[in-house]
Amino acid sequence: MKILMNPGLTGVVAAETKLSLVDGENGHLVYRGHWAKELAVHYSFEEIAYLLWYGQLPNEISLKVFNEELKENRYLPDFLMDIIDRLPVEMDMMSVLRTAISALGSSTFDWQPTVNQATKLTAITPTIISYRYRKMKGLDFIQPSQHLDHAANYLYMLTGIIPNEAHTRALTAYMILTMEHGMNASTFTARVISSTQSDMTSAISGAIGSMKGPLHGGAPTEVVQLLNEIGTKENAESYLRNKLENKELIMGFGHRVYKTKDPRAEALRTVTSQLAGSDTWLDLAYHVENTAIKLLEEYKPGRKLYTNVEFYAAAVLRAVGMPAELFTPTFTVSRIVGWTAHVIEQGENNKIFRPESAYVGSMPE
Ligand code: ACO
Repeated sequence: MKILMNPGLTGVVAAETKLSLVDGENGHLVYRGHWAKELAVHYSFEEIAYLLWYGQLPNEISLKVFNEELKENRYLPDFLMDIIDRLPVEMDMMSVLRTAISALGSSTFDWQPTVNQATKLTAITPTIISYRYRKMKGLDFIQPSQHLDHAANYLYMLTGIIPNEAHTRALTAYMILTMEHGMNASTFTARVISSTQSDMTSAISGAIGSMKGPLHGGAPTEVVQLLNEIGTKENAESYLRNKLENKELIMGFGHRVYKTKDPRAEALRTVTSQLAGSDTWLDLAYHVENTAIKLLEEYKPGRKLYTNVEFYAAAVLRAVGMPAELFTPTFTVSRIVGWTAHVIEQGENNKIFRPESAYVGSMPE
């Protein structure tokens, strides 16, 4: 068999999946036969998690049962609160999350991966984040609500305020659009770990570690930093040009797969424009988008660099009041659905991943 080398595995198909189609040429994103951008505006987080895990949208009764299962699993066990409390104060949230998920790794999560395991990890993730976040701010922990859905409960546990409908809807749209995205770095990590028949918590801890990097999930925080540094519309062109002259990346632009507009960025752009009280910051974001696309075409002609999901994720998350330090953890709150769905799918037809490496070192004398 001829072995090809492909750095970054670009263009290599590593698995078959029924979960999503990411069509980078045409800018399409499909979840199990449905357009993701339509699911994002018409359905709840719970309905789309159900769709990805079970393969179909729930009926009224199955949704009710499923909602209850998620709500029951929102609570933090005492031992986990204790572990989180003992972590160094300077530890960033993604590292806290990785450690907390790992600490949950009892035999309950052993191979073979199940929807029940996926439900438990998905349900508890927002509580881990809000518990730690409030503790670090010197605020009392807010127990999960039994009356709010997943997205609204997350905002409620962070702020202590029941969010309005517009904010819940915007966060839900963001969460649905970022729930699943084919064989990205963190999903691949989860599948590789699971392919050894390791447990679900190991696969998800590894995926969190992969998501943490700035080239993957860390970008939206840097988008806010970019926009804050630019400050005004007048400043945008010279600031961005300077970055490109210095061969620096502009965060929130470019994508390994999409060589046209990222459909998730497009959908989130619509969501931001519908949010009440659109502010000057959003105005600046639209201006920076247009300027950066123009300059990227000038400095990187033909590379087709457009806004990626992270750019408008930053705008939506900021608009719903999410602190910038929680952007990547919030991405985890949604992407954990895709990771666990892939781990389950991997388990249905497992083959351990074992690519080759090409030796380029010296040989013994
Ligand atoms: N700013 C400036 N130049 C860029 C950018 C950017 N944001 N993105 C790509 N380029 C350049 C590359 O340097 C490269 O230049 P070259 O051909 O002269 O060497 C060219 O455009 C082609 O890009 P690739 O390197 O082929 O892009 P790749 O597929 O390897 O990387 C990536 C994709 C990592 C997302 C890259 O575009 C990037 O670093 N963007 C900024 C970080 C970011 O926004 N990450 C979030 C991605 S979305 C997500 O993870 C959910």
